[in-house]
Amino acid sequence: MIIENTIEETLAAIDKEILNGENHDKREFVRKILNYPAMMVPSVQESIIKAMIKFLPENRSLIDPFMGAANSLVAGMKYGFNVYGQDINPLSILISQVKTADYNIQELNDALTRIKLFIENDNGNAVDINFNNITKWFKLEVQQDLSKLRRAILSEKDLYIRKFFWVALAEVVRNCSNDRTSTFKMHIRTSEEIQNRKIFPLITFLNLSKKSIADIEDFRNSLEKENLLENGKYIRTSEVKWGNSMHKVLTDKKFQLLLTSPPYGDNHTTVTYGQFSYLPLQWIPVNEIDETITLDYLKVINEIDSNSLGGKNLVSSKELEDKLFPKSTTLKEYFNFLNPDERNKAKKVLNFINDLNITIDNVLDKMDVNSHHVWTIGNRNVNNKEVKNDKILIELLESKGLFLVTDLARDILSKRMPGRNNFSDTMSKEKILIFKKPF
Ligand SMILES: C[S@@+](CC[C@H](N)C(=O)[O-])C[C@H]1O[C@@H](n2cnc3c(N)ncnc32)[C@H](O)[C@@H]1O
Repeated sequence: MIIENTIEETLAAIDKEILNGENHDKREFVRKILNYPAMMVPSVQESIIKAMIKFLPENRSLIDPFMGAANSLVAGMKYGFNVYGQDINPLSILISQVKTADYNIQELNDALTRIKLFIENDNGNAVDINFNNITKWFKLEVQQDLSKLRRAILSEKDLYIRKFFWVALAEVVRNCSNDRTSTFKMHIRTSEEIQNRKIFPLITFLNLSKKSIADIEDFRNSLEKENLLENGKYIRTSEVKWGNSMHKVLTDKKFQLLLTSPPYGDNHTTVTYGQFSYLPLQWIPVNEIDETITLDYLKVINEIDSNSLGGKNLVSSKELEDKLFPKSTTLKEYFNFLNPDERNKAKKVLNFINDLNITIDNVLDKMDVNSHHVWTIGNRNVNNKEVKNDKILIELLESKGLFLVTDLARDILSKRMPGRNNFSDTMSKEKILIFKKPF
């Protein structure tokens, strides 16, 4: 007699395979078309999806409320999920729209030929955008080249074709500005470095676009191979929305799988996704990304980061302690260990956990009975003491009636994280926690 494993037994058994990185499809498909910070490693997420797939209904749905560069959505699409993602960062929306769209490769190549021609025939030297400190962040000739590219993209008729090239432009802006690419925070290069650097925005753009078309083609082929395309269109749904998940998760659907990696703390002291996006977003008109965006994200450099999880300090510590300590003894212990001064400085931890807790409630509302929830999360140091995000998350979810199915640890050295940070260190291990919601 064959005894079938339950989904929980199957998930518990994938531990070794994931940690050893065995049997992974190393191809990264569309992962690299924009180097968004702290991207998940798709092969790891895929092992988890692969293990659970036979237990899920044919018409299965996946959600990521902290979508970033849509790697969870892309992984889900490869296994035929309806996918839904949401993020507060407009650059995340743009890149996610592009990765999940039904592109025709010939149309992208034709557009690239037209854009090349447009650039060759455009002899203008006008700079088409302006913002505070533009000359600090871009040399004049770079501003002129980026403007030329911008004009060429705007000359394209189809919005989704333009979106594809906006993503390429975003990556060119990152590489050709005077901002250092070694950190996600905005740090100006030395004047000597700025003067001596050889950068070629136009050539970089054309090369990058070509490479990204090939990456998209690779991804589309993998969908085709699995019979997931019909007349070039993905046979399930893919939806990407701009929104603050702490306020609302903007879908009426229900999901069987949550696959996400939240920030590990407030953006200001962990990963400044907003600062990373600030310069690229200056060059891309907002209505080209999404008409529902209401955040004035170019107002100041920190606007996106302040509006992200843990970015605002609105509730008193006492109120947060009363609310959160009964849910998480690990959080309580962390604070009990600090002296009053340190405690004050660590208020951002309370704020962040509070925002995470609110977001979890919003997401749980969208999850089916017996759904599974895969959270990739890392710990960090604040005040030289480890904030155990993994334990805190387990306690928060258990307080809401979920149970932990399995707990996988893996190295995050291959993930793009800042090496150093003044106030907090990101730890080099992260956990993949898998929960079940039995209600
Ligand atoms: C660790 S990243 C996700 C990376 C993603 N898994 C990937 O592979 O690219 C966390 C994301 O959460 C987003 N985020 C932070 N606060 C948010 C909020 N309140 N609502 C929605 N998204 C938020 C950030 O903009 C960032 O893109």
